Amino acid sequence: MEIKSLNSHPLDSKADLLAITVYGDPSKDALVKAVDEALDGRLSAQISAESFKAKLGQSCVVYPGDAYGASAIAFIGGGAKRGDEANTRNIGAYAYKVARRLKAKTLALVLPTTTTKNTDIDGQMVAEGVVLGSYKFSKYQTKDGAGDQPVETVEIHSDRTVGKKKKKGAASKTLKGAIERGAVIGAATCHARDMVNEPAEFLNPAQVATIARGIAKKHKSVSVKVLNEKDCEKLGMGMFLGVGRGSDRESFLIHMTYKPAKKAKKVQTFIGKGVTFDSGGYSLKPSASMVEMKIDMAGCAAVVSSMDAIATLGSPNEVHIITACCENLVSGNAYLLGDVLVAMDGTTVEITNTDAEGRLTLGDAITYAQEKTSPDELFDFATLTGACMVALGGFTAGVFSNNEALAKSWLKSSDTTGEDMWRMPLNTKLKSQLNSSIADMKNSGERWGGAITAGLFLEHFVKDTAWVHVDLAGPAYVKAEKGSTMRGGTGFAVATIVEHATKK
Ligand code: BES
Ligand code: MN
Ligand code: ZN
Repeated sequence: MEIKSLNSHPLDSKADLLAITVYGDPSKDALVKAVDEALDGRLSAQISAESFKAKLGQSCVVYPGDAYGASAIAFIGGGAKRGDEANTRNIGAYAYKVARRLKAKTLALVLPTTTTKNTDIDGQMVAEGVVLGSYKFSKYQTKDGAGDQPVETVEIHSDRTVGKKKKKGAASKTLKGAIERGAVIGAATCHARDMVNEPAEFLNPAQVATIARGIAKKHKSVSVKVLNEKDCEKLGMGMFLGVGRGSDRESFLIHMTYKPAKKAKKVQTFIGKGVTFDSGGYSLKPSASMVEMKIDMAGCAAVVSSMDAIATLGSPNEVHIITACCENLVSGNAYLLGDVLVAMDGTTVEITNTDAEGRLTLGDAITYAQEKTSPDELFDFATLTGACMVALGGFTAGVFSNNEALAKSWLKSSDTTGEDMWRMPLNTKLKSQLNSSIADMKNSGERWGGAITAGLFLEHFVKDTAWVHVDLAGPAYVKAEKGSTMRGGTGFAVATIVEHATKK
């Protein structure tokens, strides 16, 4: 799908479908009025017959005949007034879905009317939304999608003038750049969705390494290092290797590096939890909770996919992506309850729950990250606890940090992208829950405050580095399609990681 930005007037478009976003009362919209006049009142009659009120996700399609070059015109509801970034992204997705329904090959999209906010961000979000709205994971559905005809070209128009002298020339350079940026971020998010949705049989640790190598091959600025179990053993990664021991598939630690052309401003390291399947181990999950556990590498998918976009868009920083990939299974070789594992930093950890495995893999990845990349900013993304979902629901990620300035700048990045994130406390009063009578620590505490004790466990390995931990167990995956989010893996955090890594 090609996305272009055009400054010719949208009503002159010859696209199969022209989609016009409307906020609030449709009868007050200048383009609605213009089209209605040209169609001798046919549009307003249809708007009232279909009670189109421009609610978000509503649409109203008219066929203009000879009056316009476009075969169909869809008015897309944007809500009562201009919403946030996520809202604009949803509009792009809704427009795409109308185009798909009408089997349009070309879609012309008029940027929403806004006077207050930055049109470049609108362009970025709409482009991102169109790409996200086109997402489908149907490779295993033998009958689905047979008659599907994807949209080939999308034109985004920024000119909404009516009656006045039309503007000439190309669309603004910055808008063009913003639209390209949106398309790149959308594609990286779709890639992360694919990784999450792919069954664990295929999306296993070795496969993640293959994907990382593929991304490195695409970009001169990116290199990749893959550590096998032997390499990790040499480094003393006893926690990571302990978790993966029950699987017949080898565990791999994958480390990607992006180097900017000029001297790097700072070093940013993004870690992703890469448990490609979490059965719970001997603390076995009940089937109903295990059924979705191929998604336990959503953090890994987010960071690995982000690297592609970061390298495409360019960053002033040196960026590292690290993911320790393994499967948490049950076998004669699996780690046991009561075992004591020795972490890469020497900490001894008593295993009181083999299902609290993410923090073990991440703890060693955090030590590795500090030793090998000396980051100014360290992040981890993990489907870490059900407790975080209980606290914040299915759409919001928990943000934990040992550094006020970094937490603030991260949350500012998530504000820009419209991804829901909420700061959580690392209350040290809960730390005693991790006291062990036979080792330095144990790996799980009580039920209450489970997302916080998991964060406190990770913080032990962070030492003094400025660090942000994002628990995305909730938003990593959704059960129902809504706007730009499809059922299944969401690609959550890609947009914010790319925003944070590429902002000047
Ligand atoms: N991968 C799970 C967390 C999870 C749950 C992710 C639901 C996505 C959806 C994690 O490894 C886990 O099992 N956590 C335990 C921790 C507990 C044993 C301390 C949990 O949340 O129950
Ligand atoms: Mn688990
Ligand atoms: Zn897990």
